[in-house]
Amino acid sequence: MKVLVVGSGGREHAIAREVKKSPKCELLLCAPGNPGMAELGECVPVKADDLDGIVALAKERGIDFVVVGPEGPLVAGLTDRLSEAGIPSYGPSALAARLEGSKAFSKAVMKKYGIPTAAFETFVDLDAALAFVREKGAPIVVKASGLAAGKGAIVCETLAQAEEALTDMLGEKAVFGESGREVVVEEFMSGEEASLFAVCDGRDYVMLSSAQDHKRVFDGDKGPNTGGMGAYAPAPVVTPEVLEQVKKRIVEPTLEGMVAEGCPYRGTLYVGIMQTAEGPRVVEYNCRFGDPECQVVLPLYKGDVLELLHKAATGRLKELRVEENAGSAAIVVVAAEGYPGSYPKGMEIRGCDAMPEGAHVIHAGTARKDGKLVSAGGRVLGIVGRGDDLKQALDRAYAGVAQVEMEKSFFRRDIGQKGLRRLGMN
Ligand code: AMP
Ligand code: GLY
Repeated sequence: MKVLVVGSGGREHAIAREVKKSPKCELLLCAPGNPGMAELGECVPVKADDLDGIVALAKERGIDFVVVGPEGPLVAGLTDRLSEAGIPSYGPSALAARLEGSKAFSKAVMKKYGIPTAAFETFVDLDAALAFVREKGAPIVVKASGLAAGKGAIVCETLAQAEEALTDMLGEKAVFGESGREVVVEEFMSGEEASLFAVCDGRDYVMLSSAQDHKRVFDGDKGPNTGGMGAYAPAPVVTPEVLEQVKKRIVEPTLEGMVAEGCPYRGTLYVGIMQTAEGPRVVEYNCRFGDPECQVVLPLYKGDVLELLHKAATGRLKELRVEENAGSAAIVVVAAEGYPGSYPKGMEIRGCDAMPEGAHVIHAGTARKDGKLVSAGGRVLGIVGRGDDLKQALDRAYAGVAQVEMEKSFFRRDIGQKGLRRLGMN
């Protein structure tokens, strides 16, 4: 199979790594890819959101299967365009990707099909939204309905914060542009969060390992939200009982609901849950793998990931002999100082080829300059450690981090601690 992986971040590097391992992969192209992906296959400088460019590339190079990493091109309809061109691809259609692309849509689906989530109202009018939060009081959560690069959800501890968030989005400033012209205001849920990934073919699904992300920038979950500073899988908070509840109360009704809505869901259904006193409730759906969760979830799948994604994309998961997930994995993200605010670029990176046993490097924001590997983003690298248990995975990831040399960089030192505590291992 000739495979094209679309995207250029850590998630896509992790996908490319698994695709390349498959005996079914004859050729791997990445668009646009990154220096890590360039070690696995050929990178072609076509951007992920250049839909025409991606379709043209796939046709020109006789690609048999496309795996789309990021949400942007999925919400914009890349898989629809590829199917018009007769090329199978992994990822939901634009209509199905609304589960991530429109929080108003996803909340409406959850309500209609009885899927547990925070109570909510949707608004386009500022005054009506302000009146609603004044009636409900804080804490309360204000979310831009559209895509906002992970920054569109504001957890408001005070009424003043909620008023400010609403005014920013629905008022003249329109801080999220069109994405924030419609907002969802929802009940605050307390509990521990986890990420679940169902690989879906429209009707059937395969559940991958659970994971837990570390969104805050500093140790102890302090500081602003980031794209994710680390992750580990599986997440002990997702006990077998919780997993069963997620399948029966969330994944299955969502898939049935999407069939009933006329847009069957194919691709990764990422369910962000809050484990509350009443069981798991949906915080959000995403229409793609999590980043950095993908980097720890895929290596745990014992089967052929390319085959899994291809069977899902072509509606044939039933034919698959589903493999177990085994062991543990952890990723520690090395970021540039200042991230998630402004940060320097172009710092030289050394030590990536000196990874200890059980550890590997995932590139996220790197570039090659005059033959040297340099930083080119906020989240620069992730070091993945794999092991028989979480402790070993974490030890290996941190041993790998110790080999990396880069000025003006930092990482969190407490990745996975919550998991170790639950397991009684720290
Ligand atoms: P989202 O973009 O919807 O994933 O939200 C980003 C983050 O905001 C989540 O990972 C949660 O930590 C937090 N969050 C979102 N919705 C809620 C909620 N209803 N209650 C509590 N925290 C929330
Ligand atoms: N790690 C969170 C996300 O991918 O949305």
